[in-house]
Amino acid sequence: MNRRKFLSLTALTAGGALVATAGALTLPNLVANGEPGALLRTARPLPPAYRVPLPIPPVLAPVRTDPGTDYYEITQRPGTISVFPGVATPALTYQGSFPGPTIVSRAGRRTVVRHTNRLPHPVVVHLHGGHTPHDSDGYPGDLLLPVGTATAPTMAGMPTMPGTTATGTRDYTYPLNQRAATLWYHDHRMGFTGPSIWHGLAGFHLVHDDEEAALPLPTGDRDIPIMITDRAFDAEGRLIYPSLDPTLTTTPGVTGPYANGVLGDVVLVNGAPWPVLRVDRAKYRLRLLNASNARRYRLVLDPPATFVQIGSDGGLLRAPLPQPALELAPAERFDVIVDFANVPPGTQVELRNTLGAGSTAQVMRFDVTGPAVRDDATVPPTLSRSATLDPRTAIVTRDFLFQNAAGRIGWRINGQAYDPAHPLARPKLGQPEIWRFVTDLHHPIHLHLDQFQVLARNGKQPGPYDHGWKDTLDLYPAQSAEIMVRFTDYAGRFVFHCHNLEHEDMAMMADFITSA
Ligand code: C2O
Ligand code: CU
Ligand code: CU
Repeated sequence: MNRRKFLSLTALTAGGALVATAGALTLPNLVANGEPGALLRTARPLPPAYRVPLPIPPVLAPVRTDPGTDYYEITQRPGTISVFPGVATPALTYQGSFPGPTIVSRAGRRTVVRHTNRLPHPVVVHLHGGHTPHDSDGYPGDLLLPVGTATAPTMAGMPTMPGTTATGTRDYTYPLNQRAATLWYHDHRMGFTGPSIWHGLAGFHLVHDDEEAALPLPTGDRDIPIMITDRAFDAEGRLIYPSLDPTLTTTPGVTGPYANGVLGDVVLVNGAPWPVLRVDRAKYRLRLLNASNARRYRLVLDPPATFVQIGSDGGLLRAPLPQPALELAPAERFDVIVDFANVPPGTQVELRNTLGAGSTAQVMRFDVTGPAVRDDATVPPTLSRSATLDPRTAIVTRDFLFQNAAGRIGWRINGQAYDPAHPLARPKLGQPEIWRFVTDLHHPIHLHLDQFQVLARNGKQPGPYDHGWKDTLDLYPAQSAEIMVRFTDYAGRFVFHCHNLEHEDMAMMADFITSA
């Protein structure tokens, strides 16, 4: 697409014209309520809010270490989660829990994770936000088949995927030459990422480094990972999801009404419905992750309190940024400090979602306990020295249009359904590039391999949630944005895609191939 065509598209979207015409015939109620998706309702009374403690996912211990590397093992297997009192809800799990166990790494130390697949279908593991070579990045065609299976199921109507197939176990090697950040790992199988994550295949992977360790930020049990997801359940308390193929093997995608995204009416935080965390009168670091398939959240504290943002997807900001509210699209992370020191004991501070209604307006609660405690943590005025990219150094500008497949159910980038035979970019390693995006509806756009910086939205300043190094950009309907990225280190085939998982599974993805 040349610049002139791109500008005319921008003009078109600015007037909302694309929104008005987006798939009106095939996607009923697509934009009626401005929600990125359709609500799937739970077929039994919802679990009570604020009854269970916030679960903290277990931290995985390495099975062995050597001077440069920590080795971990995770078995993917059916398990259960507890959502309704007295009901065991079947789930797909990493090592028996949802979220999966948290992996904690040190930047620059290699982490090797051996995954064993004891689920009834293939899997792919991606470390989201990881600066990872192609062969460990969880390319959607690099399947890990279940233990004892010889061949991958044939998928209907999907392009032939390049990739390597392993059976039973696969080692993922993460060099982690990157900044301290809140990363997460999740399934990324071609065509089935949405249902796989929905059923439980997601976990945290935290990276620390020396720069972060030198700061007096809250640590230990005042450094809390918070994975927010929405889900829906049947009358027996089982997870429901509108897959075209419930065996999750041959036909990707969801039924028509849900093609713009699947929304649930139960909010799970770290796998528990509307949980409660008892907090001291002290500062807490909250690592907020929206791991929902499609739902966006606008989080506020009630009674009102400020989130002091210290980090984004790619690690610490240069300086703390007070935020009265936070908007999170799927896959985005916000690292924040909340100070409960001056909150009277006994206060119940709700984390609320002002984009939700009824059950989805609630997320979790912090119950402030006890007398004042000793708290040595502070938020220094300078957090990091992370560099910025200079737009004047950009060598290449690329344009990408994220749009409904006109007249069909599905999603497209530059008019193209996902097709590895036609990569949409071939960036040179080390070359600064500007990528411009235009949307019809809500699309959280995610790049693998490297984080980026946001230069502009709709030709103006970046938005309030665009600070720092990002790997997922929350784009609104009929928006344009410019980001700057420099891919480094690893030559090979990677993907970028919309992180609305129903959009992703229904072809809103493309390959880019890096080379030296
Ligand atoms: Cu979180 Cu390509 O994904
Ligand atoms: Cu990713
Ligand atoms: Cu999308």
